[in-house]
Amino acid sequence: MSDTKTPETIAEFNEEAYLNMELLRFTTAGSVDDGKSTLIGRLLYDSKAIFQDQMDQLKQASTLRGEKEINLALLTDGLRAEREQGITIDVAYRYFSTPKRKFIIADTPGHEQYTRNMVTGASTADLAIILIDARLGVLSQSRRHGIIASLLGIPHVIVAVNKMDLVDYSKVTYDAIVREYKAFSQKLNIHDITFIPISALVGDNVVEPGENMPWYHGPSVMYQLEHASIAADRNLVDFRFPVQYVIRPHLNFRGFAGRIASGTIQIGEPVTVLPSQKTSKIKEIVTFDGNREEAFQGESVTLTLEDEIDISRGDMIVRSKNLPEVTTRFQATLCWMDNERSLSLATAYQLQCGTRLVKAFVRNLDYLLDINTLHRQDADTLRLNEIGRVEIESAMPLPLDPYERNRETGSFILIDPASNQTVAGGMVRKTLKNAAAPELVSHTSSNVRWEQLNVTREHREARQGHRAHCFWFTGLSGSGKSTIAKAVEKLLFEEGKRVYILDGDNVRHGLNGDLGFSADDRIENIRRIGEVARLMYDSGCIVLCTFISPMKAMRRLVKGLFPAGSFTEVFVKADLETCKSRDPKGLYTKAMTGEIPDFTGISSPYEEPESADLVLDTQVGTEKECVEKAVSYLKALL
Ligand code: ADX
Repeated sequence: MSDTKTPETIAEFNEEAYLNMELLRFTTAGSVDDGKSTLIGRLLYDSKAIFQDQMDQLKQASTLRGEKEINLALLTDGLRAEREQGITIDVAYRYFSTPKRKFIIADTPGHEQYTRNMVTGASTADLAIILIDARLGVLSQSRRHGIIASLLGIPHVIVAVNKMDLVDYSKVTYDAIVREYKAFSQKLNIHDITFIPISALVGDNVVEPGENMPWYHGPSVMYQLEHASIAADRNLVDFRFPVQYVIRPHLNFRGFAGRIASGTIQIGEPVTVLPSQKTSKIKEIVTFDGNREEAFQGESVTLTLEDEIDISRGDMIVRSKNLPEVTTRFQATLCWMDNERSLSLATAYQLQCGTRLVKAFVRNLDYLLDINTLHRQDADTLRLNEIGRVEIESAMPLPLDPYERNRETGSFILIDPASNQTVAGGMVRKTLKNAAAPELVSHTSSNVRWEQLNVTREHREARQGHRAHCFWFTGLSGSGKSTIAKAVEKLLFEEGKRVYILDGDNVRHGLNGDLGFSADDRIENIRRIGEVARLMYDSGCIVLCTFISPMKAMRRLVKGLFPAGSFTEVFVKADLETCKSRDPKGLYTKAMTGEIPDFTGISSPYEEPESADLVLDTQVGTEKECVEKAVSYLKALL
């Protein structure tokens, strides 16, 4: 059935053929008890992918454990004890090859956090092996693995019914399991599913058929691994290039390094950078082996562009005629992976999609998926291993593809800001309109395009000797925003820095003289200021913005106008009572008698930031202390 590479033939190893061989990534789902490690050991052993010296070590370790047979599971687990006794088994079990294919096993160790392991280890897998213990039949875990494989869009699935030796190789038992699992899997989105009865321990149907199940005429696991047709699974259409690094070894070279997530690209093709939507053309494709005309999915390359445009880590370069959606709201399937904290709609998570990291809220939990019946249930939260449909809103626009179309640009993880742990893995189902804050989205006519200027922000920064930045002070009227900002401005100015304050009262004299304090007007106020601040930032300035900016959504969306790392949200903190008692402009007194309508804190809401980059508590610290804190924070960013 399968041609195997024996250690003797290693000497004739043909490197070029090896490099050109097709690579299949697969994952195994099942607990240790299901025989996952034994299966992998058996695959390696029977296909002679283990070398003699490794076999000797394995024998020695098994003997020391008092085991008569060679324990193949020791290849992948249970090695700690042996290591402690000074025996090392050095098997690169994650990579192996046969003359037909190279394989990478995405390791998914079997313990209770299997959902996490599958989601993180399996998202790039071409094939998943789901193990079912023939004695136990279809468990809820086996169903969950099927659902996850389906959600992850793993194109090929092998359901290996293991431990057939322990059920007397009973065809009846096997058929019953296949029938039950087939009925279940029909509701899933798995196109290619193969059932195989095996004994990983004895070896039946792992690499060779063996003699114990003459009633089975299908392929072995290895045959299936070698022959599953994977070439058509790749997305070669949509060019997506998440920028990992900006490379600038000298003034004449500016390259963008990363790995092509999908698609192909050629020199000269028009490209668009997201989220800024600036356009250019591919000038060069640089690789370790020199320059290329064309590059493909999976390759790590450095691209240079014809025009100098502002691109940072986390941006995405795409083909201009094939754009992903850029949005702050989308619907997703979420697999919860944290056993300490369950999903909270009040937490500002960090969402990582490709190389882009943004703050995001789960706005709604539409339903929880019952993994046994696939029914939708109402739920308030998601707990460890639970899977649900949610709506997510990110602080900055994200370029997204539906996961179905692109497994890389359609998947993401959520990180809890408090613990820094990955708490969920998700898949984008579809993008949604920015309904929560439509007013903040500027409607640009399709007939205007961004004019590329000759002098860039970087040129300006280089000349003036410091970086541009937007420092956004939010807080109640009377909290001390302007007082602190004015002192910060003065200190920086005296050091020769280019700095300017955009102040609430001042801007409302001219630019925003037509706006009042209704919710809509405040949003428009902040939108315009955000745009002005962004232009000033582009001009190389340190912009200090002092605006009440009472709603979280408006602050989030202003932040979204700036490249990562160039915007700092500063919460100038003082409670309402303190602000009232300070009442520097006598406005609170007027507001309380109803003389000023919609006054923030009195008759209009203020949402405190939950995760400001910097908090200046003016009730605790003196003015001088707050100013020093702000200046030292800011200087570290310049
Ligand atoms: S925001 O809410 O739209 O961000 P902004 O910071 O521009 O407000 O303006 C707030 C300033 O306008 C306050 O410092 C105060 O002096 C003045 N003001 C006048 N009316 C109001 C009001 N109804 N609510 C808050 N501030 C007001």
